[in-house]
Amino acid sequence: MSLVTLEVNGVTLRWEVAPRLHLADFLREELGLTGTHTGCEHGVCGACTVLLDGAPARSCIAFAAACEGASVRSIEGLEEDALMVRLRAAFSAEHALQCGFCTPGMLITARDIVLRLPQADADRIRLELAGNLCRCTGYGGIVRAIARVLGESGGREQATPNGPDPHGPLGTPASGQPLGPIAGETAPSGAGTAPGEAGIEPGADPPLTMGVASVALPDPARPAETLHQTLRIDLPPARVWQALQDPALIAVCIPGARLTAQQGDRIEGEMLVALGPIRSRFSGTARIVYDQAAQSGRIAGEGQDRASGTRLDATAGFVLRPDADGASLVEITIDYRLRGMLAQFGRGSLGRALAGELAAATAAALERHLRGDAPAGRPVLGGFALLLRAVRRWLGGRMGRRIGRWIGRWIGGRA
Ligand code: FES
Ligand code: FES
Repeated sequence: MSLVTLEVNGVTLRWEVAPRLHLADFLREELGLTGTHTGCEHGVCGACTVLLDGAPARSCIAFAAACEGASVRSIEGLEEDALMVRLRAAFSAEHALQCGFCTPGMLITARDIVLRLPQADADRIRLELAGNLCRCTGYGGIVRAIARVLGESGGREQATPNGPDPHGPLGTPASGQPLGPIAGETAPSGAGTAPGEAGIEPGADPPLTMGVASVALPDPARPAETLHQTLRIDLPPARVWQALQDPALIAVCIPGARLTAQQGDRIEGEMLVALGPIRSRFSGTARIVYDQAAQSGRIAGEGQDRASGTRLDATAGFVLRPDADGASLVEITIDYRLRGMLAQFGRGSLGRALAGELAAATAAALERHLRGDAPAGRPVLGGFALLLRAVRRWLGGRMGRRIGRWIGRWIGGRA
């Protein structure tokens, strides 16, 4: 694996990549930027065309590891580009697409033609399009669309300088709240904050690498999943606050988690996640800060399961407040992104149900631990039990409970 630093759609990333991973797969599989299509994967069809340092390039024949220091712009990164907006409108007006498979690469090439050849006529446009194959349209609509934009601009299009995007990083999460700083990022002030959190100074720290990929900014392609949860712990807030400031103790209470190193506000650990028959071991790093006055805190971290190639980055903000009867309420907001094989479990309502079960199990273990009921150690929540409870919660209602009982009997019968 090699560590590569590159800019994708205005966002600087530091990523661990396999030597033979091509740029198209890096964009699609690692970053979730699936607007870049792959057809031939031999540099022939042009479906995978992106801008590499401002010039169209075939991402299927460029190794991601060879893009050190490069600026890459995929079709997603041109969403708000003024010329691309006009080209999309022209493609639509001229029926320049049918199945759309060639369209992202075609649009990037079309943009390059308009910028480079303001006087191009239909023949020249066809010549320039020779590297982009379309199996549907017969090219007539595509040529007309490009000619239309050229005609509108009268050859006055100016190339956008290759550098920081004038619109800022594109493809920020749908929530408009990028995750908090993880690794020397330059997040907008106040971004990704949770109730009462202390906040981490942007750019204050060097990247955390510690053997896993380091992400300078959150994945620009995929919106974060957000989980809000209020946990009730039947103990006084002073006691719970003391416990919350002890990462080692919290780690002991999280099913499957283990703290392997701690240095100041930085922690390193691993977590075993067992979803039925699927077992993953995430290793990662995080930074944790506390606000004593507000009795709140914030954790930002990232991890990776090498076996499945799944990556997780997350921030969690929590705030402690007293309940009416003297017990403690811990309000948690977690923004997380999963990429890779296990992402299918991490998104949507099942993923949230699983995360909810995990948080509830942690709160229960913490309460038991503080009461002195639980022996110190690594509590193990059976993988099937976790999955079963999450499925019950997910399905909800009578039907959910019935299906949950049925699964329970089935598992019991096989045990
Ligand atoms: Fe890259 Fe065909 S997929 S040129
Ligand atoms: Fe289908 Fe071009 S629109 S391949």
